[in-house]
Amino acid sequence: MFPVVIDVDTGVDDALALGLALALPELSVIAVTTVAGNVDVDQATQNTRRVLDWFGAVSVPVARGASQPLLRPHRDAREFHGPDGLGGAMLVPQRSGPILDTAAPEVIVRAARRYAGSLRLVCLGPLTNLAIALRLEPRLPELVEGLVIMGGAFAVPGNVTPFAEFNVWSDPEAAHIVAEAGFRTIWVGLDVTTGVRFDRAARERLAGSDRPGPRLAYEVSRWAFDERGVDSFALHDPVAVAVAARPDLVTGERAFVHVLTSPSELRGRTVWRADAGAPALVAQGVNAEAVYKLLRERLGLEEGGKEPTRPESHAP
Ligand code: BDR
Ligand code: CA
Repeated sequence: MFPVVIDVDTGVDDALALGLALALPELSVIAVTTVAGNVDVDQATQNTRRVLDWFGAVSVPVARGASQPLLRPHRDAREFHGPDGLGGAMLVPQRSGPILDTAAPEVIVRAARRYAGSLRLVCLGPLTNLAIALRLEPRLPELVEGLVIMGGAFAVPGNVTPFAEFNVWSDPEAAHIVAEAGFRTIWVGLDVTTGVRFDRAARERLAGSDRPGPRLAYEVSRWAFDERGVDSFALHDPVAVAVAARPDLVTGERAFVHVLTSPSELRGRTVWRADAGAPALVAQGVNAEAVYKLLRERLGLEEGGKEPTRPESHAP
C-alpha cells in the first residue's frame, strides 16, 4: 500500500477521484491539499472536506493551498462544474474532519520527508502547490516515489484552447517548473482521459441508491446533465487516481515533457521528446475496461458513454 497526497481543485471529477482513492486498497490517503482551479481555493477546500466527510474519511486532513497561479490571475471552470463546483450536490455528511493551519506546499514537503521513498503524489488541479513545494524542498523529486499528473494534451487537442488542457493552461509556469524538475512522473492527459466517461443513462441507474459512491456520482453530475445538457462527461481525475494505484493501466512513451508558457496562443501546450532514459511517461493508451471495473467495484459507478463527436471545452 502506498501513502498518497492528493492535490485537488474539487470539482466534479476531483470529487469522484477522491471517492475512488479512498476505496482503493493500493492507496492510503494521508492528506489532501487544495488549489485554485475549477473553483477558488476556499470553495475547493470546503468541497474537498465535504467529499471526504461524505465518505466518512474524517481522519484525512485537508490543507488549503495557493489561491492563484504563480504569475497569472485565476480563471475558474464553474461553467463546467456548477456554481459551487460540485454540480449543486446535496450531500450533508454527519461529521466533519480537520482543515489544517499548515499550507498545502508545506504539507506536501513534510509528507515527502516523512514517507521518503514511498510517497506517491497525485495532482488533479493546476500545479501551483507543487511548484511552490519545490522551492521549499528542491530534493522533492528524489524524495517521492512517484508523481501522477492529470494534465496535458499531447497528441490530441486541448480542452481550453486548441492546444492546452485546463490544469496546465491554468498555471503554465508552475507546470513548466514541475515538468523540468525530474520527478518520476506519469502524465495522464486528455489523450487517455476523454475516453473514460460517465453518461446520462449510467446516472439514471444510480437513482435512489443510498450508497456513498453512487449517491455522490448522482448528485455531482446534476449540473452536467440537467443544466449544461451534455450526454456524458470525461472522468479525467478518476483515471489519474486509478493510474496512481495501478500504473499498468496505461501504456505510453518515456519522454522529456516541456510546457510552453508563451506565446499566448500556445500557452499551456505540452510537448514531449521521446527518450527511453527519461523519468517521465506520457500516457498514450489506457485500459478503459479495467478502469471501469475499478470504478464499478470500488466506487459503485456504472460505466457508460461514447466519446463526444465534438471536443468538450472548458469555461474560459
Ligand atoms: C481537468 O480540468 C478540471 O476541470 C478537471 O477537474 C480535470 O482535473 C481536465 O482538463
Ligand atoms: Ca481537477
